[in-house]
Amino acid sequence: MDGLREKYLSEIAAAKDEVALESVRLAALGKKGEISLAMQGLRDMEPEARKAAGAALNVVRDEVQSALAAAKSALADAALAERLKTEWLDVTLPPRPAPQGTIHPVSQVTEEVTAIFAELGFAVEEGPHIETDWHNFDALNIPAEHPTRTEMDTFYMARAEGDERPPHVLRTHTSPVQIRGMLKHGAPARFICPGRVYRADYDITHTPMFHQLEGLAIDRDVSMANLKWCLEEFCRAFFEVEGVELRFRASHFPFTEPSAEVDIRCSWAGGQLRIGSGMIHPNVLRAGGIDPELWQGFAFGMGIDRLAMLKYGIPDLRAFFDSDLRWLRHYGFAALDAPTAHGGLGA
Ligand code: PHE
Repeated sequence: MDGLREKYLSEIAAAKDEVALESVRLAALGKKGEISLAMQGLRDMEPEARKAAGAALNVVRDEVQSALAAAKSALADAALAERLKTEWLDVTLPPRPAPQGTIHPVSQVTEEVTAIFAELGFAVEEGPHIETDWHNFDALNIPAEHPTRTEMDTFYMARAEGDERPPHVLRTHTSPVQIRGMLKHGAPARFICPGRVYRADYDITHTPMFHQLEGLAIDRDVSMANLKWCLEEFCRAFFEVEGVELRFRASHFPFTEPSAEVDIRCSWAGGQLRIGSGMIHPNVLRAGGIDPELWQGFAFGMGIDRLAMLKYGIPDLRAFFDSDLRWLRHYGFAALDAPTAHGGLGA
């Protein structure tokens, strides 16, 4: 008995793989296996001797059986560990091929401001970039001889020879969309207009094309207080900081009366944002087909590029429009990170 036991336990221990182990099992416990045959041999023994030998043989058989089971699972574990060493996969790797292209900060910020003002009940209006002289100036209470016309460094379109009508202009601000929106929707009204504007100017903070965000709200009793709340609310949501520092400074625009410039201190960016604003001038309401005796409203305008520079720490405005791939990859946004008010507006 002891011989059988020693023999098979050491053969089991020596088996290198599941095939070797299986042949040990057959040799010991298979139909013609040594232990099986020994058990059959019990039949020929005297009852007393058979009882003792049978019990001892059972113990040996059980021991060999459990040694086989243990060795089998150890070999299976080792085989799996070996496979895992060669067949591993890093599921944290980014998908390939790598995504190409990014969303430009101006597009991203435009989406952000649109989402914020949508929450405040503002729709989005659009207007043409090539604008009539009337929409860009006259309707906004800027008469022909007004200095603003030259201050804005306007790009004028060419007229055919002999055509004496005032030339069209590349819009110098988004304010003409105020007029278009009023004429289209009447009062009450609440909309923003993000878009491109053009001025003949070029240095570190000026490019001949840049982006503005116009906003306007007209109702029976809209006031400067509503304007202030609205801009505060916007800045808090956009910059994601509590207690934004806003300063209202008396100013002048032909299309608002009274007018205020709002300075927002962006200490984290070491800069400041300036928003032009005020109560819409009665002449402007009239040009938009709205009776200033019945309605009043506020309007504001700010630079989208400037918003992007302050929020995302971008130092030079000119780089926005260089189409430098390194810049775009660095400052651009993933296409699937669409800003939403509920999903968070940050980077
Ligand atoms: N249109 C002005 C500008 O371009 C900004 C502005 C808009 C000011 C609306 C007041 C109201 O500077």
